[in-house]
Amino acid sequence: MDKFLIRGGTPLEGQLSISGAKNAALPALAAALLTDKRVVLENIPAVRDIRTMGRLLATLGAEVSYGKGAQSHRVVIEAGDITSREAPYDLVKTMRASSLVLGPLLARFGSARVSVPGGCAIGARPIDLHVKGLEKLGAGIRQEHGYIEAQAPDGGLKGAQIFFSRVTVTGTEDLMMAAVLADGETVLENAAREPEVGDLADLLVKMGAKIEGAGTTTIRIQGVGRLHGARHTIIPDRIEAGTFAVAAAITGGRLLLERCHPGHLMAVIDKLKEAGAGVSLPSPSSIEIEAPRPLKAVNVTTQEYPGFATDMQAQFMALLTQAEGTSIITETIFENRFMHVLELARMGAQISVEGNRAVVMGKSALSGASVLCSDLRASASLVLAGLVAQGETLVDRVYHIDRGYEKIEQRLCSVGAQVERVS
Ligand code: UD1
Repeated sequence: MDKFLIRGGTPLEGQLSISGAKNAALPALAAALLTDKRVVLENIPAVRDIRTMGRLLATLGAEVSYGKGAQSHRVVIEAGDITSREAPYDLVKTMRASSLVLGPLLARFGSARVSVPGGCAIGARPIDLHVKGLEKLGAGIRQEHGYIEAQAPDGGLKGAQIFFSRVTVTGTEDLMMAAVLADGETVLENAAREPEVGDLADLLVKMGAKIEGAGTTTIRIQGVGRLHGARHTIIPDRIEAGTFAVAAAITGGRLLLERCHPGHLMAVIDKLKEAGAGVSLPSPSSIEIEAPRPLKAVNVTTQEYPGFATDMQAQFMALLTQAEGTSIITETIFENRFMHVLELARMGAQISVEGNRAVVMGKSALSGASVLCSDLRASASLVLAGLVAQGETLVDRVYHIDRGYEKIEQRLCSVGAQVERVS
């Protein structure tokens, strides 16, 4: 099992190019199931979750090919010959986003069988809202032997008015993909406004879907008879950009992040500025971060987009261990997303947790230690802490970080970090 050996203490300086967004790429891959024609996706990050989704599509019978060399971020999917409609437990348990195939399979083939995701490190991740929405579209759904079995009515799914009682990103995406082939109009209310939802809508529209309002809380979809192939470039990964921005700030460095979308990072930029960082936008697709001196304590509350992303919470906690004063971090999206606290504490951070609030008392001199990754973003926070800790930090179970960050150690090294992958 790979580990990262990090020698902390070097300010990061230079420029980094941001990868395509994993969370936009995953639904885009699932959307290719909606047509028997070729879908070509560009700017797909080379991360483990993408390979997992690729394996799932191949299990269903789709042809999935990955580009090589200069095309290494291209994936081509042809789902003309789908032989199975089942997302098996083995794949779903490693990646919850596998449930994104539910909507497309049901819409195009009239049935789907998807393993129910269990608990995970960051708390319960039910898909009850996906299921309720599909029932509104007329699907019959039962749960048996750990699987959700969904069946469309004779004549296929029917457009409906769907209200999400809570904002769900993949739920909105799943329902959008089901509704594009349903008969008539579907209106999704209280839909997620995350940029990844908008990116999926862009792809679906290129495939011939009729969608309005993606990026707002009300999405209107007019069902069409069939979709065709398309070529689409995935948006930049706002969480990766945010993570690198924190890397600049925590190490006392300066980084230019290129090929990103500053507009998707407003909440993070706002908090970085409040903490004292210098942030400028030299072009519409780049952000420059200059570390604050001194770094100030700030309070952060996670929210749905356009609020502060829960996927940036752990990284900001690492940052705030280095701020003068007390910061309060409130997590409102997931019930148990503080797994990184005890690991950061092993490195000398002073953080106390009460319910969904973490109180970070800074500034703590972090010292290198052996730490364990529990989930993707928690792992990123440990790497960030390692970059500023005195001495050596050994980060174990980095397969979590490989799920969502492409070659993170090489890219951090290219701007001066000392991070080595060891087996
Ligand atoms: C997506 C992102 C993940 C991010 C999260 C919140 C992908 C692949 N993953 O996950 O990185 O952390 O959004 O921004 O895009 N919920 C229910 N019932 C449901 C669905 C969700 O109760 O049917 C709850 C969840 O438990 C959670 C909240 O709603 O508390 C938000 O979850 P959701 O937006 O669905 O997260 P994901 O789409 O799984």
